[in-house]
Amino acid sequence: MTTPRRETLAKLTPVLTKRWLSPDAWRIGTYEKLDGYAALRKALKAHPDDLIQLVKDSGLRGRGGAGFPTGLKWGFIPQGDGKPHYLVVNADEGEPGTCKDLPLMTHDPHSLVEGVIIASYAIRANRAYIYIRGEAVHAARRLRNAVQEAYAKGYLGRNIQGSGFDLELVVHSGAGAYICGEETALLDSLEGFRGQPRLRPPFPATHGLYASPTVVNNVGTIASVPYIVLGGADWWKSMGTEKSSGPMIYSLSGRIANPGQYECSMGITLRELLELAGGMQPGHNLRFWTPGGSSTPLLTAEHLDVPLDFESVAAAGSILGTTATQIFSDQDCPVYATYRWLEFYHHESCGKCTPCREGNYWMVRVYRRILSGQGTHEDLDTLLDTCDNILGRSFCGLGDGATSSVTSSLKYFKQDYLDYIEGRTAPKLSDKQLVGA
Ligand code: NAI
Ligand code: SF4
Repeated sequence: MTTPRRETLAKLTPVLTKRWLSPDAWRIGTYEKLDGYAALRKALKAHPDDLIQLVKDSGLRGRGGAGFPTGLKWGFIPQGDGKPHYLVVNADEGEPGTCKDLPLMTHDPHSLVEGVIIASYAIRANRAYIYIRGEAVHAARRLRNAVQEAYAKGYLGRNIQGSGFDLELVVHSGAGAYICGEETALLDSLEGFRGQPRLRPPFPATHGLYASPTVVNNVGTIASVPYIVLGGADWWKSMGTEKSSGPMIYSLSGRIANPGQYECSMGITLRELLELAGGMQPGHNLRFWTPGGSSTPLLTAEHLDVPLDFESVAAAGSILGTTATQIFSDQDCPVYATYRWLEFYHHESCGKCTPCREGNYWMVRVYRRILSGQGTHEDLDTLLDTCDNILGRSFCGLGDGATSSVTSSLKYFKQDYLDYIEGRTAPKLSDKQLVGA
């Protein structure tokens, strides 16, 4: 195990994670002692438009994967339109490899609740929802407890802290469908319908929950807001890069000594993250990795020094996504890993559009053929052709995301595919697993 150098340790910037090690930070008394709800008191004295401007000035970008500028999104909410406005927090974290929102809601749920109140005040919403994935039972329990505590202390409900601002906050548990993390499917689900993506535009900012203006933001985005209110836009921008400001929670998993969440200034490299995480497990050498979950194209050991910010990762041919860095070694097979991810996308495809529904079905079958030693050279062309017909032709991002590991593994590891096809690698699947995709 490697010991991190002092300059690498300095890249750790615990902001959203700073209370995680404090026992009982999830209780309101402890949270208040650790600066909790100070940002709300400050925010309620400000004009809502000034808060939107502050978030714009901070350069905060969405932490759910797409990195859309948060202040800009809030600014899209029409004012004086006579319609109710809503804030919806997307806590349906489901991207394979991603694990930053669930620990936040478990260890420090009040930071999210406080962020919800400030954001709702800024966009003039009197009703907010946190949509949490159904399997996250413990985090949901902590969150509901935090909401109850906040009501009891007058941080939620009518005339919050004497400001004249009213807010009702509801925690809603989903039922375990990955597609309900797509923002419009989430809204359908919240309205009581089967969760399937809606056509965009119009975007939720103008036509969201119950066809009213709605901001949908990720947990990490909203939980960042109290820190920006207290610390200011310049302080936030002093971390990260010019276009990707602030700290980011990187979740590291796979063949490393100390998996977990590492909050660092945006722009840290995988080489530095590995140093913080104690290096690779003994006997393992890095071979491939995902910068932002399974929907993002694979990178390799060549990319160890790519700064992990939105622009640099895009320039390297991938996507920063949810900063879920899954680390694979020379003992892992990129063909098999891609197959397992595809099985996931095939299973979670909502079936609304043909490219994703049929394309993933067929690709799973082709992978089974290759991995059981019955693949042909033509199968590789079939995979690329199928990806070509899914990417950019699917109704939502799930279809596009499914193609990422297929095209990138074929780009970097074609020889691994050929080794199965030409019989140099022993089949990983039996004939029995060949059928029934
Ligand atoms: P997107 O880029 O289409 O939209 C991002 C946000 O900006 C949305 O809230 C959208 O409503 C808003 N927006 C974009 N253009 C707008 C406009 N002209 N007017 C008003 N609002 C606008 O990205 P999308 O499809 O919402 O999310 C894709 C990302 O989700 C992927 O990059 C992936 O990394 C991530 N993802 C995250 C998962 C998780 O578990 N956190 C799961 C799966 C994917
Ligand atoms: Fe449904 Fe897949 Fe089409 Fe998205 S891309 S709408 S998940 S079938």
